Amino acid sequence: MNEAINSKLITLREHFWTRFGSTDEVRVFQAPGRVNLIGEHTDYNLGFVLPVAIDRAVFAVARARDDRQVRLMSRQFKEPVEFNLDSIVPERGSWGNYPKGVAHVLEQEGHRLRGADVLFDSTVPLGAGLGSSAAIEVVSALVFTSLSGIELDRVTAARLCRKAENEFVGVSCGIMDQFISFLGEAGNALFLDCRDLSFRAVPLAVGEARIVVADTKVRRGLAATEYHHRVEECREGVRLLQQKLPDIASLRDVSVEEVNRFRGHLPVNIWKRCLHVASENRRVEKAVEALEKRETVEFGSLMRGSHFSLRDLYQLSCPELDLLVEAALRVPGVISSRMTGAGFGGSTVSLVEENAAAGLKAELTRKYRDVTGVVPDIYTCTVSGGVGELSWHAEKP
Ligand code: GLA
Repeated sequence: MNEAINSKLITLREHFWTRFGSTDEVRVFQAPGRVNLIGEHTDYNLGFVLPVAIDRAVFAVARARDDRQVRLMSRQFKEPVEFNLDSIVPERGSWGNYPKGVAHVLEQEGHRLRGADVLFDSTVPLGAGLGSSAAIEVVSALVFTSLSGIELDRVTAARLCRKAENEFVGVSCGIMDQFISFLGEAGNALFLDCRDLSFRAVPLAVGEARIVVADTKVRRGLAATEYHHRVEECREGVRLLQQKLPDIASLRDVSVEEVNRFRGHLPVNIWKRCLHVASENRRVEKAVEALEKRETVEFGSLMRGSHFSLRDLYQLSCPELDLLVEAALRVPGVISSRMTGAGFGGSTVSLVEENAAAGLKAELTRKYRDVTGVVPDIYTCTVSGGVGELSWHAEKP
């Protein structure tokens, strides 16, 4: 275990001790955030995605209780959350809804959980488009199942976490974020078919490339509303296209050629949304082929295409994201750059040759600060594995 993680664990253990009185029998788990390389807003349309798990995670220090009470603390949120597993109800606007929702769906599935005391801490920035909500759900699922001696396969567990977010938290997200947080592999991207949940690891063979994330620090309240709006528009697209193509069940079943053939049958915005989804699915398939053939330039051009499609057709980018992408694309050694995640703020992801990463960071910081007055957060990510339990090397406080 590396030094940084070990010292993080020592600190977490001290915090647990302060809040819950002792550290006897505590266990520690972590679930990673993610960066999606390509395949945006395709997951809830049952299409393809290509995310990676990153070396930023939500940690949970946890201990089982003998009753059915759950006490949750977080180092990011002041309010503690407490509930009983016999009556789990959401609380408007509370961070506790993510772990609570997971406990709720596990109980609904017939798993009898033990109560727990849990302290969360996160190195995934909140609202930055890096899958922080999924990471807290995923680590909670591992906490509850592990402390209760329940074995769940990872694909089933990812589905349940998505269900918790859809039905308990009330966000109509797809399954990408929960899936990669469970099944991510160090050094590999994951090519996932969101319809049948088949997947395969694709080695990130893009030379000595680095993944650089740049956080605009824009957090738009609008994002959730617009996200749901897009989900609705896609449903409407399917409904209208079914009048011409009765066999389709989702936008996954529609080609670019078909979207264009029936353009006259669709309101202009719906046509744009459908065209984004159909073309994005095709781009993901081509991107996987390009990675497998080590065609870096092609991979880069598909990533760029994804950004322009999100900006012009899906209309979910924002000036700050566009600024960072355009600035990155002008830096020598940058293979590509695009917005990542839900959009309307959050982060961009750039692929850059190793020796150009420092220059990219400096240029993005300068340009973004000059135009917006804000210093962006920029960091290089390592492609990491999925959720797991960590072992303590730390001394007890
Ligand atoms: C959010 C959602 C995902 C996915 C992306 C957009 O991260 O949680 O399910 O829809 O947006 O690709």
